[in-house]
Amino acid sequence: MLTVITLSELHSSRRSFSGTVGLVPTMGYLHEGHFSLVRHAKEECEYVVVSIFVNPTQFGPQEDLSKYPRDLDRDLSLLESLGVDLVWVPTAEAMYPPGYQTWVEVETVTRPLEGAMRPGHFRGVTTIVAKLFNGVQPDRAYFGQKDAQQAAVIRQMRRDLNFPIEIVICPIVREPDGLAMSSRNVYLDPEERNAATVLYRSLNATKNAYENGERQAENLRQIMKDVLASEPLAQMQYVSCADYDTLEELEKVTGKTLLSMAVFFGKTRLIDNFVLG
Ligand code: PAJ
Repeated sequence: MLTVITLSELHSSRRSFSGTVGLVPTMGYLHEGHFSLVRHAKEECEYVVVSIFVNPTQFGPQEDLSKYPRDLDRDLSLLESLGVDLVWVPTAEAMYPPGYQTWVEVETVTRPLEGAMRPGHFRGVTTIVAKLFNGVQPDRAYFGQKDAQQAAVIRQMRRDLNFPIEIVICPIVREPDGLAMSSRNVYLDPEERNAATVLYRSLNATKNAYENGERQAENLRQIMKDVLASEPLAQMQYVSCADYDTLEELEKVTGKTLLSMAVFFGKTRLIDNFVLG
């Protein structure tokens, strides 16, 4: 496995690949959720490239950029054991040099949910992902359903900017008790960790109601809220029952639908979602 830092090292390694290339963009501190993307990429591509970059432009001023967890040595040895071909670990100075002034902004689909709670977040995500695409020039790029809106935004960006890249969305990997894996789970104290299973319970209760015929979106949102309210440590930020592609809130569920939520446990903010239909 090769590890490269600069764009020119990346370009010369990329030129030596003749065959399909899969890219897995990450911010490091890797867990099974990230590894599942790497395994999907290994199955479908001749070469697998992973990027590790804690992208400063997608963090808000009050967010956890400086304390975002990092362990590059561990990440590299785990990626090597998975058979990754190349890891790109760019520096913030190289990605955003002094005088940097070009941004990629996707409009409508970035407005609700995470976009409403985290102004500027998706502008940072789409800008860095476009730069990672341009650097690596992959045939396929792998993202997790865990970040459902991010996946929708990147699919939109791919269509709008004609990136000749197939976007592959992989299922959410969960802990045995249902908590979606996340680098941010390390912030939870034992009590909060225990309480955090309420996201999965809330989504499951809502899915059961859907499977029993409930189609009124407001009733489905109310079930999510009621289950979240049963957990005293959970502070709900939003729940949503929205169209899977446009993320517009629904009145009635007819097609593919995203149930999603953001919930605080102390200072830690967790998101989770289920897809219906
Ligand atoms: P990061 O949070 O490191 O996540 C990297 C990828 O792993 C994302 O596509 C995310 O959806 C996926 N992922 C995380 N947890 C997962 C889980 N439990 N199951 C399945 N997939 C999971 O998302 C980012 O980084 C950044 O925004 C990035 C796209 C790298 C741009 O900076």
